[in-house]
Amino acid sequence: MIDQKIIANTTATIKIALENADKINDQLSLIKDVLPESCIDKLNALLETNLDWKKVPFQENLNRQMIDWIPESIMEELHNVGDELTDTVKKYYSIDNIKFQALQLWKDNQGYILNSHQDNPVIDIAMQLYLFSNNESEGTTFVIDNKELHLPFKPNTGYILWKKSNEERIPHRTTSISSGERITLYFTWSRFGKQAPDADDPAAFL
Ligand SMILES: [Fe+2]
Repeated sequence: MIDQKIIANTTATIKIALENADKINDQLSLIKDVLPESCIDKLNALLETNLDWKKVPFQENLNRQMIDWIPESIMEELHNVGDELTDTVKKYYSIDNIKFQALQLWKDNQGYILNSHQDNPVIDIAMQLYLFSNNESEGTTFVIDNKELHLPFKPNTGYILWKKSNEERIPHRTTSISSGERITLYFTWSRFGKQAPDADDPAAFL
């Protein structure tokens, strides 16, 4: 059964986190106290069960696993949260042409590394929320105007990043995961919605 209360609570808490965000520029904001305890507890409980982790499309060579959908679970509830947040995200960036695209729970295992990259142009907005890890260096390093900005991995913090244009996508990277697991949530919004074409389709990038 879907818990409407947890959907409403989580949506409201993320909205407050966006209101209080640390705006680095018009594309990148850092956020904290993003999820309510009830949501984190439910994610923790889910992680204690036997999950059917899958490889992430386009990242099959990386030591990353994901869960995207489990019906009647916190994953379904968080998909609802992504939908509910769409208007807030539109207002946040003063744009109108996006739809909720996807939500994935990521588990980055020992040795996982993601060198400097720009996100797939299909993604207009990405929000990554840090859940569990005990290593602050395993956050994300962004390069803005030739300067590095490291966002440390602290539980219940994260960032939201707008593509703005294909040319203005902010490069970022993740250091090698030294030990244990790095668990994050990744929400995306795209003008293509859930039917986003893949990275091999040039029309997707216009
Ligand atoms: Fe990225």
